[in-house]
Amino acid sequence: MSVLDHIKAASSYIKSLYSGSPKIGVILGSGLNGFVDFMKVDLEINYADIPHFPVSTVEGHSGKLIVGEMGGVNLVVMSGRFHYYEGYTPNEVVFPIRVLKNLGVDMLLISNAAGGVNANFNVGDLMMIKDHISFAIVNPLLGKNFAELGLRFPDMSEPYSKAFIKIGYEVASSLGIELKEGVYFGVTGPTFETRAEYKLIRTLGADAVGMSTVQEVITAVHCGMTVFALSVITDIGIREEENVITHADVLDAAKDAAPNLALVFKGIIEKIKSAS
Ligand code: HPA
Repeated sequence: MSVLDHIKAASSYIKSLYSGSPKIGVILGSGLNGFVDFMKVDLEINYADIPHFPVSTVEGHSGKLIVGEMGGVNLVVMSGRFHYYEGYTPNEVVFPIRVLKNLGVDMLLISNAAGGVNANFNVGDLMMIKDHISFAIVNPLLGKNFAELGLRFPDMSEPYSKAFIKIGYEVASSLGIELKEGVYFGVTGPTFETRAEYKLIRTLGADAVGMSTVQEVITAVHCGMTVFALSVITDIGIREEENVITHADVLDAAKDAAPNLALVFKGIIEKIKSAS
């Protein structure tokens, strides 16, 4: 069986339980599950029950697919994601993205927790990702390319939709929420960075660094999705003082910022609905 068969088996299982046709997918990162409170939930499916789905192991990641609607728009939400540092292969990490595409999703809203390396950022800031740097992670498209999934050499000139970023600003300003914008540097983790690494990452042109998202975005772009991604800045790595970072601090900071992140996502979904 190839990955194509696995994708079909997983999406057939989901379709056997849910007949809606979601166009929008949402990935909720660590401590960012509050978004679900705004949804009318039709069904929750544990990842463990979906054929070929990996199972999430990190605290703060609940590991289920939630389908339902928000303001009349069908949505499929990944509550919990898979990280390379958990021991999954890059193909396993991005498998759910391909299943979402098979279900009809063509717009993906991604959230994550990230460390700030821009001195103008503060803990709790929300940063729209305008671009990423992928060369410290393993590219999920290495290996045989299936033309059914996408091109061998995908263009990456605009992985994060400029149109979505514009909508993000409009939504945030109407809500009185400040959004930053910046470049996300992908790392494998699971260590947080050393001081020297945070500085290097800044020097290389990034504003934030994190252990998720980049493999997902590469795969989403490969299969033709439009992407919007928002980071919660949970720590400021480049500060010489106060830069002992724990997972608990990251989760706490994410939890505090989660309501605003959820409002921005909700506002974007409503705008997409009214424009369609
Ligand atoms: N580095 C990498 N990943 C992270 C960080 C960080 O400082 N904060 C939250 N996720």
